[in-house]
Amino acid sequence: MSNSTTAAPTPAAARTFSSDNAAGASPEIVDAVVRAASGPASPYGSDGITAGVRGKLSEIFERDVDLLIVSTGSAANALSLAALTPPWGSVLCHRDSHINNDECGAPEFYTAGAKLVPLGGDDAKIDADELRAAVRNKAGDVHSVEPSVVSLTQATETGSVYSLDELRTLGSIVKEPGLRFHMDGARFAGAVAALGASPAELTWKAGVDLLSFGATKNGTMTAEAIVVFDRSLTAELGFRAKRAGQLASKMRFHAAQLDAYLTDDLWLRNATHANAMAARLQDGVKAIPEVDLLGAAEANILFCRLPQQVTEGLLADGYTFYHDRWEPGVVRFVTSFATTPQSIDDLLQDIRRHAG
Ligand SMILES: Cc1ncc(COP(=O)(O)O)c(C=O)c1O
Repeated sequence: MSNSTTAAPTPAAARTFSSDNAAGASPEIVDAVVRAASGPASPYGSDGITAGVRGKLSEIFERDVDLLIVSTGSAANALSLAALTPPWGSVLCHRDSHINNDECGAPEFYTAGAKLVPLGGDDAKIDADELRAAVRNKAGDVHSVEPSVVSLTQATETGSVYSLDELRTLGSIVKEPGLRFHMDGARFAGAVAALGASPAELTWKAGVDLLSFGATKNGTMTAEAIVVFDRSLTAELGFRAKRAGQLASKMRFHAAQLDAYLTDDLWLRNATHANAMAARLQDGVKAIPEVDLLGAAEANILFCRLPQQVTEGLLADGYTFYHDRWEPGVVRFVTSFATTPQSIDDLLQDIRRHAG
């Protein structure tokens, strides 16, 4: 076992727990981009690699899907929501959701003014009873916004995961009055890896119309996709993506990343590893009495409460992680496909050392 008080300093990369966005890219994905660079290809998504990605996603989701490849998760979310709600509609979401807190009003902007209505629920998951009330709240009343779309995040912003039963329940609440259903899958791979359920069961079979299929946090460089289950939305999404500056001329480079991501289950292998690293951290932290675990890390995010001297000590050691953002003492550790078991063991040892 390494002893961080005497061993050579751990490289900074191994002390990065701030975000999976800080991780690099899988070598297979970098190689695929290099391969895609030789020779010409049709632009704007009419290349063969993009067609191949659509084929792979159709296999993975067990039905013909369309896709729009975009460069950020926020674009995937905002474009999807814009296609699912009129400007006078409301987007029902969790109060801790990324669309509600971290997208600078992009959903409101892209929807031309639809209103986000935040709902509660434990572990960043939408509470079924609150949703049941909200889907009918003032429906048809011109003085209010019209409940139009429900957006949930899978895996959630706190690292929890909706079970299949929970998704089916929420899906039926969404669909019964005829609302639309969006899933922010910035960490969808982590949810699939955690649950072992099929991607189809976790999405369209539960009523999801559009999925923001995240990839950048899990191994790609700059590529995310909107997976379109309701293909009547495809043409509109195409216009919206172009208008938003999200139709890349050299789409093949985005597509090459996704193609490699979906080949030989790289997306699931990466996510399984990231989840396992968070579980390793969780198991280690459980044995440290000075640390309180907050919620369960079902995917790759772990929240806990650390004594002040531990947080300060780790920061002084060069660790990066978010802290004191939610409540004093609360910290968030995020693992990724690039996190090594050694880096988790070193972190645990340093927590123990600072806890005294
Ligand atoms: C849950 C969730 N959704 C969407 C996004 C948006 O991704 P991007 O930063 O690529 O716009 C993030 C990014 O951290 C996220 O955590």
